[in-house]
Amino acid sequence: MSDVQLLQEKVGRRDYTVGVIGLGYVGLPLVLRFGEVGFRVIGFDIDPTKIEQLNAGSSYIQHVSGDRVRALIDTRRFEATADLGRLGEPDAVIICVPTPLTEHRDPDLRYVEKTADAVAATLRRNQLVCLESTPYPGTTDEIVLPRLEARGLRVGEGFFLAFSPEREDPGNAQFDTATIPKVVGGVTADCLALATALYSEAIKQVVPVSSTRVAEATKILENVYRAVNIALVNELKIAFERMGINVWDVIEAAKTKPFGFQPFYPGPGLGGHCIPIDPFYLTWKAREYGVATRFIELAGEINSGMPAYVILKLMEALNERGKALKGARVLVLGAAYKKDTDDSRESPGLEIMEGLFHKGAKVDYSDPHLPRLPMVRRHKLDLTSVNLTEASLRHYDAVLLVTDHSRFPYDLIHQSASLIVDSRNAFRARGFTGSHVVSA
Ligand SMILES: NC(=O)c1ccc[n+]([C@@H]2O[C@H](COP(=O)([O-])OP(=O)(O)OC[C@H]3O[C@@H](n4cnc5c(N)ncnc54)[C@H](O)[C@@H]3O)[C@@H](O)[C@H]2O)c1
Repeated sequence: MSDVQLLQEKVGRRDYTVGVIGLGYVGLPLVLRFGEVGFRVIGFDIDPTKIEQLNAGSSYIQHVSGDRVRALIDTRRFEATADLGRLGEPDAVIICVPTPLTEHRDPDLRYVEKTADAVAATLRRNQLVCLESTPYPGTTDEIVLPRLEARGLRVGEGFFLAFSPEREDPGNAQFDTATIPKVVGGVTADCLALATALYSEAIKQVVPVSSTRVAEATKILENVYRAVNIALVNELKIAFERMGINVWDVIEAAKTKPFGFQPFYPGPGLGGHCIPIDPFYLTWKAREYGVATRFIELAGEINSGMPAYVILKLMEALNERGKALKGARVLVLGAAYKKDTDDSRESPGLEIMEGLFHKGAKVDYSDPHLPRLPMVRRHKLDLTSVNLTEASLRHYDAVLLVTDHSRFPYDLIHQSASLIVDSRNAFRARGFTGSHVVSA
């Protein structure tokens, strides 16, 4: 029996330990899933507060229940640690660290590089290393592989290396880690076979592909597809509005076509760790090959202009009422970038709030998922969420809806606010209209 067959058998018998590095939105659900299907799991993170919370049986991510963490702790098959010196313990190491952009919008692979160095430092025979962080095509081969091979072991013989893109969709009630099909590419055939065997135990459908580069490019395609289509409807929103046509009505009608059309919706701008960032990983890499990624650049330009467009719409609506934005009291509804989540990374809400501040508005925000604004990249707003009551709402010259959380009291807001500027069509979709409701 070959080494890989023996390892596959160990996986099948659960005589196999899975290590996950980076216990964020992607890593934590993965830890829970592998633990829940019977593997011993070790979670690694450099953030000591996360480690403490997990070991105490609680969760720091709103849509991941503390009960699941507690139940896993109780099995005694899970522990979290900040000690990267223990990376040699698990049989498989799955890397889920951030892949952001630098200030100049170039890929910032420092987290991946540091993690690959840490894995290399303890790499042992037969270990499987799998990268899940979103990279540009070639990252596994060019960044991770040389660091691991520098230790003397050869890929496909001494150790195994694969890439499997994460497709987590926080807040999606229909799909979760177990049911979202998982694309996997291996550096060699044995790498692919072992990674496929491992993921197949935890995930309903595994999709093996011909190389790590195909798997990496798949993730980029998925995110570019979203970025471009969202840009398209954002552009159409502006064009249709000038013609007196409501773009949401148009999309509702178009989506009755049973083939060849998938609805995307306009909004105040892109947010989160994926869509605003990942396409630019490809743009950067394509330059190396002398190729321009014009669709990506154009989509980026349109989407990143949306926060300014929303501010302009607010300014016009105030102007109609004889008010200037400067000095106006504005309440922004929603700081998370996505409906019903607490994730404010790259959130257009934060950008809009900063833009309003710079224009002299007196800004507050309300978000049932974010009681206080976290300090995130580029934004330094120190605010706490306003409780929505008739009196608090009456205090503002305008309410600006950025994120259409289900928990907002739309009826109360509609009754109490003197002006509502809605960038999500949330009020109209619920039947709340009137001259004080303006679409943005
Ligand atoms: N959030 C999503 O919905 C989503 C979806 C698909 C793909 N992704 C990709 O998955 C990757 C991770 O994203 P995320 O949203 O989970 O990020 P996150 O910020 O929520 O979590 C990353 C974690 O890694 C930890 N970390 C950073 N450096 C580390 C190191 N050297 N060693 C150990 N831990 C370290 C951080 O403390 C943090 O807990 C990114 O590449 C992202 O593009 C995210």
